[in-house]
Amino acid sequence: MSEPIIAQTAPYGVELEPGTYWWCRCGKSAKQPFCDGSHKGGEFSPVKVEIADARKVFLCGCKLTKKGPFCDGTHNKL
Ligand code: FES
Ligand code: FES
Repeated sequence: MSEPIIAQTAPYGVELEPGTYWWCRCGKSAKQPFCDGSHKGGEFSPVKVEIADARKVFLCGCKLTKKGPFCDGTHNKL
């Protein structure tokens, strides 16, 4: 499997309302941290994020987290 594109070397802190979101796994989206369909034709697929209660989340921007879609600190090693 090839590596995703690093969208940024830090997480995206976003306030989310309850609902379903799709985190960009490939790094190509122009609407980071969310999928905009740019992964099509590649080997990565977006990851579903279900938010039950409105809250702030930190979604991985480097795309190298082991706990996707959430930042796990891996970006600190880049
Ligand atoms: Fe990717 Fe933190 S931004 S692990
Ligand atoms: Fe990156 Fe869809 S654009 S996963």
